[in-house]
Amino acid sequence: MNQQAEYEIKAKQLIGEMTLDEKIGMIHGAEIFKTAAVPRLGIPAMAFSDGPCGVRQDFDPAHWQAIGTSRDEVSYLPCNSAIAATWNTGLAKASGEVLGEEARGRGKDMILGPGVNIKRSPLCGRNFEYFSEDPYLTKELAVPFIKGVQNWDVSACIKHFAANNQETDRLNVDTFVDDETLEEIYYPAFEAAVKRAGVHSVMGAYNKIKGEHCCQSVTQLNKVLRKKWGFDGVVVSDWGGVHDTDIAAEAGIDVEMNVTDNFDDYYMAEPLKEKIKAKEISEELIDEKVLHILVLMQRLHMLDGKRKAGAYNTREHHDAILKVGEESIVLLKNEGKDDKVLPLNVKQGEKILLIGENADKKHAAGGGSAEIKAFYELTPLQGLQMLLGGNATVDYVQGYTSGASEAQDASWQATSLTDQENSEESRKEEQKKQLEKERKELYEQAISAARNGNYDHVIFIGGLNHDEDQEGYDRKDMSLPYGQPELINELHSLCPDMPVVMIGGNPVEMDSWIDNTKALVWMFYNGMEGGKALAEVLLGHINPSGKLPVSFYKKLEDCSAHCVGEFGTEGEVHYTEKDEVGYRYLTAHNIKPLFPFGYGLSYTEFKIDGIKRLLSVDHKTQVVVTIENTGKADGKEVIEVYKDHKNGKYRKLCGFGKVNVAAGYFADVVIDVEADDDETLYIGTSVDDIKAKI
Ligand code: BGC
Repeated sequence: MNQQAEYEIKAKQLIGEMTLDEKIGMIHGAEIFKTAAVPRLGIPAMAFSDGPCGVRQDFDPAHWQAIGTSRDEVSYLPCNSAIAATWNTGLAKASGEVLGEEARGRGKDMILGPGVNIKRSPLCGRNFEYFSEDPYLTKELAVPFIKGVQNWDVSACIKHFAANNQETDRLNVDTFVDDETLEEIYYPAFEAAVKRAGVHSVMGAYNKIKGEHCCQSVTQLNKVLRKKWGFDGVVVSDWGGVHDTDIAAEAGIDVEMNVTDNFDDYYMAEPLKEKIKAKEISEELIDEKVLHILVLMQRLHMLDGKRKAGAYNTREHHDAILKVGEESIVLLKNEGKDDKVLPLNVKQGEKILLIGENADKKHAAGGGSAEIKAFYELTPLQGLQMLLGGNATVDYVQGYTSGASEAQDASWQATSLTDQENSEESRKEEQKKQLEKERKELYEQAISAARNGNYDHVIFIGGLNHDEDQEGYDRKDMSLPYGQPELINELHSLCPDMPVVMIGGNPVEMDSWIDNTKALVWMFYNGMEGGKALAEVLLGHINPSGKLPVSFYKKLEDCSAHCVGEFGTEGEVHYTEKDEVGYRYLTAHNIKPLFPFGYGLSYTEFKIDGIKRLLSVDHKTQVVVTIENTGKADGKEVIEVYKDHKNGKYRKLCGFGKVNVAAGYFADVVIDVEADDDETLYIGTSVDDIKAKI
């Protein structure tokens, strides 16, 4: 008998012994992150935890109040966008292993990630939690990531199914997207997670698709996920995503979770029990949900005493996180008169000035449910000083500020005895003035330091933070905030070679300062070792090998979700751009981005020396590419394979591989490709830089 059949027999036995109350307890939250146990039958509760960047801190069972223990400080992983920028499936697997082992180490059963929604617009506040605008890259990284997590007797929970691509009106927005587009763009990562990674759990999305709330959608959950793809695991609602008892009972959802503490009132709690007792809903529907949960518990060894223990904050985890961080950094520009600006050559006794809030800002604790209570998080300032030691002086000036300072908050008291409404208004006005004043002071301080400080190297480290990249919020435009463009320009007039580092979860407009920028480095929120990884790249200890997992548009209007479709609307959102998402739209309409999908430079140069193509079997083939490192530094290169979409309008990614090549040497990279023999393959190093056809 196969294992699944054994699990089902045991589950059915247990269900036969359970009371209706016990069953109901297993299919809805009895705490904010837990279901109820059935101690009498040895069935434990199911413990959930966010999220993709690590295991979230623990909350009071009934409130969103952190318990406040040091025991929930954990390893903080590079966000999924950073993992995607590595284009390295091995590192995606390693990241999943860290997350799974830590989740187990913290006593969790299900980790609420990875997020695999497609980045349809650069404004979506949760994009940092997602991999890419491209479904192929997303699925090829999500599959090993999930396998890594699930190696640790923990369930991954792929989210948010489906077409969850904006935060505006996120609980109710009705998404109008045609089936062909769902198949081409929004489903592939979910389908691959089910069929190839054997993901144990799926989270429904908050939004509706064509009138049906995804968390209780018969179309999405029963017809597509369970019937078409054969998913036999557990479907969990997003927190507050269920809206109706009868529909949820029929639909393929197994566990209702919510953000409120009235656990008995949840749609799948007392209201469901009453309807079963009144014979309005069949108990068999509930048995099926409980069966899915009991099978999952056996898959995770929750019932047999043979479960892995897990561990967190191990040295191996921190090392793995550094490796991912190093490969995720993308070098976007590197020019120079004689020598290129980067890597910096810092000599003994030299002075370095870092300018910009992100040079010393920690990001782990922000972003919404993806927040992490990091065991530590190295900032770029720390990373650089740690690597340079006592032989160089590293100074820091903030240059700009993203938010209100404590001094401003204190100013509230001055008006606190006046009329409430007016006092609120005038408080805001006062804060705004304070902020402007503070920004001006920081600006002048930075300019004066750069002008008079006699520095050998000046580096700007700015970008976004989780005030911009966060759950429940979409940016209004792509501008680089807090007065940074003016500051960068002014600094460049003083220090023309100043490299610019941007840290963020989404691209920003660069038109006003990019031409004067000789060296530009992009880093997505990069985990606890991010500051060190960045320092290694800036100093040339590590040769950058990251590639953009998204298009960097020149302006927002070049993004199809904005110029063809709708984004950020309330009520309904229409994906009229259909499958022309991201670079697909740009290539179909010959629009040049600032930096294309798949783009990233190195401190060395590579040449493609030979390409071999094997015969296809079952729509899959392999391409072997020989790469020569013609430069002076060892380095890694990503080779990308594209093919024409069947409508002939655009090319799409269908394979990629990454390889390490020593300076002056050759190496082969074997690339798995999704293509038939009669399809032309385009081999290149970004979607806009195709080197050969085969
Ligand atoms: C988010 C989910 C998250 C859940 C639990 C929701 O607001 O959309 O991604 O897993 O909360 O924190």
